[in-house]
This record gives sequence, C-alpha cells and structure tokens, in this order.
Amino acid sequence: DRLRFLGLTGSLRRDSHSTAILRGLQAALGAGADLVIRDLQVPLYNEDEDGPATAEPVRQLREAIAASDGLVIATPEYNHGIPGVLKNAIDWASRPYGTSSLTGRPVLVISSSPAFTGGVRAHAQVNEALLSAQALLVPGPQVVIGGIAEKIRDGRLVDEASLAFAVAAVGRLEAACRRLRHRPEHRVA
Ligand code: FNR
Repeated sequence: DRLRFLGLTGSLRRDSHSTAILRGLQAALGAGADLVIRDLQVPLYNEDEDGPATAEPVRQLREAIAASDGLVIATPEYNHGIPGVLKNAIDWASRPYGTSSLTGRPVLVISSSPAFTGGVRAHAQVNEALLSAQALLVPGPQVVIGGIAEKIRDGRLVDEASLAFAVAAVGRLEAACRRLRHRPEHRVA
C-alpha cells in the first residue's frame, strides 16, 4: 500500500537546488511512499497544439501526474515569481478542461532560494495557479527554504532542520492521499 508521489522540479538546471531538495526527500522518505522525480522539459503551451496531436512529452507528463497519488513540486523563484518552466507545465497539466490530471490531486509545494526569503513569492504564485487548476493544496505551514546553497551536499538537501520541515509536510501530503484513498467520494474528479 505504498503511495506513489511524483516530484516535479521547477528548474532545468543541472545542479538545481530544487531538484536537490526532491533528492533529499527521496532519501528521507519512509516505507510508506516512493518519490519519482522528473523535470518539466515540455514545449511552450499552445492551444492549437493541445488536442489529438499533443506532443509526447506533454502526454507523458499528464500521464505521470494522473498515475501518481500526489505531487511534490519544488521550485525556485525567478524575478519575484513562478519560473516560466513551471507555469508552462501547470498550464499544460491543467487541460483538458474538466478532466485535468491536477483536478482533485493533492499537491505539496516547496520553494527555495539562496536568499533568506526562500522563494516565498514564487510559492504563493504556484499555489494560486494550482487553485485555478483545482488541485488539492496540502494545508499547513508553507515549506519555504532560505539559504539553500549551504544546505546541500552531493546534490541533495542534507540540512537537518530544513529536511525535517519538508518531511513533516510530506507527512501531511501522505495523510491527504490516504484520506482520498479511503474516501474517494471526496475526490473532485
Ligand atoms: C533568480 N534568482 C532569484 N532568487 C530569489 O530569491 N528571488 C528572485 O526573484 C530571483 N530571481 C532570479 C531570476 C533569474 C532569471 C534567475 C536565473 C535566478 C536566484 C535563484 O534563486 C537561484 O538561481 C536558484 O539557484 C535557482 O534555483 P535552482 O536552479 O537552483 O533550483
């Protein structure tokens, strides 16, 4: 009865801190859940190309989201907001309207920054976009990690306090997923 979490990184950078956070969580997760990480390398959204001929990477992203019990999104902040890569992916995933893979799906958002502000503005914007897509935001303290550059070793988050903060939030994601499994009538779609 392991839960399948999909970790989406909002950065395409090779040495991304956001991806390193997901790797840290992957290593810290208990027996109750798996976390598969993927990046968001898909074309730019174009409604003309959203239909029977939707690009393969987009199809795969939608299927991976639909096959997961819940999402962990780790994102940086670009110019006080959501990185285009992540917003673009949310736009694709929010369609087809009415049958989006995001609808009713529990999502935990984590932001980070080398600055002490931790990407909190991007965090708020990701939440807003996910609300529009009718995802189920995991309630609780916003997981915002400042000073991230000093908290990573060998490509993963190792800072104990930050990791404990994030792991506790994944615990709330897990609880939300298990509630839905047992009471699927609470799922929006
Ligand atoms: C940034 N960065 C940044 N950081 C921040 O806290 N607030 C911001 O508004 C911005 N703006 C911004 C714009 C652009 C175009 C870049 C490339 C970077 C710095 C950012 O937090 C840093 O590069 C992170 O390392 C990016 O995240 P990943 O790639 O490590 O996951």
